[in-house]
Amino acid sequence: MKLQRLVLETFRNHEQTIVDCSSGVNLFLGDNGEGKTNILEGISYLCLSKSFYAANDTVVMNVNKNGFVVTGSFVSDGNIFYEARVTFDKLQNQKTVTVNKAKVDKASSLIGQFPVVILSPEQSSITIGSPLDRRRFVDFVVSQSSRTYLESLIDYRRILKQRNKILSDILFSHKENNAVIEPWNENLVRVGTALVKKRIEFIEDFQTIVIDSYATLAGTTERPGIFYLPSFKCAASDKETVETNFRHALEDHYQEERHVGYSLVGPHRDEFIFKINKLDARSFASQGQHKTFLIALKLAEFFYLKEQCNETPILLLDDVLSEMDGRRSQRLLETTAKLGQTFITSTDERALNWVPVVSSNPRKFFVKQGNIDRVEDAAFIR
Ligand SMILES: Nc1ncnc2c1ncn2[C@@H]1O[C@H](COP(=O)(O)OP(=O)(O)OP(=O)(O)O)[C@@H](O)[C@H]1O
Ligand SMILES: [Mg+2]
Repeated sequence: MKLQRLVLETFRNHEQTIVDCSSGVNLFLGDNGEGKTNILEGISYLCLSKSFYAANDTVVMNVNKNGFVVTGSFVSDGNIFYEARVTFDKLQNQKTVTVNKAKVDKASSLIGQFPVVILSPEQSSITIGSPLDRRRFVDFVVSQSSRTYLESLIDYRRILKQRNKILSDILFSHKENNAVIEPWNENLVRVGTALVKKRIEFIEDFQTIVIDSYATLAGTTERPGIFYLPSFKCAASDKETVETNFRHALEDHYQEERHVGYSLVGPHRDEFIFKINKLDARSFASQGQHKTFLIALKLAEFFYLKEQCNETPILLLDDVLSEMDGRRSQRLLETTAKLGQTFITSTDERALNWVPVVSSNPRKFFVKQGNIDRVEDAAFIR
């Protein structure tokens, strides 16, 4: 997938910004606070119908306006053209997503159509942060490649909320009502089992790609591993066994759940453990190893999505060069340029020289106060 043109209207500090994109590397340079990340955020609206970090629509809209429009013209690997458009109207509190002028009924339906891989400073929480951060990462990758998984996830959240409400009612009223909770147990087991099964399959596939990606970045002396630890013991990965084990775990935890007032087992409590040379990365990895692990995960995400979606994902790299030396930065840019279309932000003007010549038609832009200027290559030969 390639984004050919991006238009941001009253989006963050961009009054009206038009980017005619290269199909290779697009570099956005500028000082702090000029509006570089906002451009990547606009692309994330087109691919995910939301910001890639937890900003909501009212925050993203220009503070002096009552809405925003983000438009993108895409061309797929198979040469099909799409125009995606996300608009937000503050007065109606309404977000509308269209693809080729047809309204997309649920914003989530957009996910996976324009696959995207994002590497930004916030993402370091994937290896450093809590189990929730790793679950989010896995859910994000799998959801982009499987609509069924995304739908199950949405369904599961709804069921969990309802079941927690019942448990909390039991806690505060001290009145038990098995007839009320039973159907929700069954729903939780049914939808939760689908999630657990997919997570088992995903980690099996993904783990091999991560090992390969890590080896290209750091050689083979360090061996990464990723492991899935469901919140309950699974004796095997077939549907019946997972369902039975899940049901037993619910029975075992029921008394405890009544006392805390929320659900203690299920995919929302699963863990994913990332290791380097058999040691838990979260506790033992050095800063450099965390960074390498994260980039390896992102490369693996790219290859996984490319295979599953049958479409080359777009890469968004926000501020990733800042802690790297020139050699590493250049190597990272060379690697990503070979993968697909890349959008990268940097405050470092040296990056102008790091954009690989091999990249097909690289484009460089200066961002200043929400405006962009294309930098003609000839003007920057030093
Ligand atoms: N809703 C909004 N309306 C108008 N301006 C906004 C809005 N949200 C953020 N801004 C402005 O956008 C700018 C930040 O943009 P952005 O995060 O893209 O900067 P950046 O170029 O990536 O900077 P850095 O190099 O520090 O990461 C700030 O000047 C901020 O005031
Ligand atoms: Mg930024």
